Amino acid sequence: MTVAAVGGSTLWFLSRATGIVAFVLLTVTVVLGIVTSLRWQSREVPRFVIEYMHRNVTVLVLALIAIHVTTVVVDGFAPIGWIAAVIPFSSPYRPIWLSLGALGFDLLLAVAVTSWLRHRVGFRVWRFLHWSAYASWLFVLVHAFGTGTDTRQGWALLVEGGCAAAVVVALWLRIGTQWQEHTRVRVAALVTTVVVPLALAVWLLVGPLAPNWAARAGTPRSVLTHTAQNRSSR
Ligand code: HEM
Repeated sequence: MTVAAVGGSTLWFLSRATGIVAFVLLTVTVVLGIVTSLRWQSREVPRFVIEYMHRNVTVLVLALIAIHVTTVVVDGFAPIGWIAAVIPFSSPYRPIWLSLGALGFDLLLAVAVTSWLRHRVGFRVWRFLHWSAYASWLFVLVHAFGTGTDTRQGWALLVEGGCAAAVVVALWLRIGTQWQEHTRVRVAALVTTVVVPLALAVWLLVGPLAPNWAARAGTPRSVLTHTAQNRSSR
């Protein structure tokens, strides 16, 4: 059975499903990272288990992203080449929102590689890049909202919104218990955890959830026409 016979849609469903699951697991590993930095543990969940999960969930995320990108490229419905997985602005398909996915992936790769080579890169480089995991997560959230077909679905908003809430609450815990001697850092971090979600919510309402987003987001005319034809032929 050829890819065409399988139907791009099977690959398309798989790319959406692996994207969503990868994002949920990326959120889990970010929250586990914050729990690790809080040095939290209990008798049932000792610290080494949390650290083990933090490391290994990341491996699963990278594997899922590989499937996500492969199914998008092999599907071929949208003009997205392999290079678009790591080089921002190398595809004409929703350039800004797709590029945020590539940037999120690049940062995640840098975080993973420097963690595997931590003894070689040194603590300072490792820690600097590890902080960019927060940027990677945020880029991917906006990527999902900006490119995702399911963004308008209640369940997708619930899942992606729930992930955002989990990271914000974990950050509040961290801000509440750490950096006691750095008041300015704490206030800046707290303001960021309120302003960024609010700005995202406003952007969602006037952007991906508002009419005509596919065209405004930079979907090539050929894809828009093809999608409209597909819809009318059903
Ligand atoms: C950190 C890495 C990434 C994660 C966690 C991720 C996650 C997601 C999620 C959650 C969606 C929304 C799916 C939906 O609405 O059903 C999505 C959509 C999409 N992603 Fe990614 N993504 C990542 C990187 C990339 C990269 C590098 C590419 C480029 C090849 C890419 C291409 C796409 C495309 C084309 C869509 C739209 C699929 C659709 O029609 O819904 N993603 N991604």
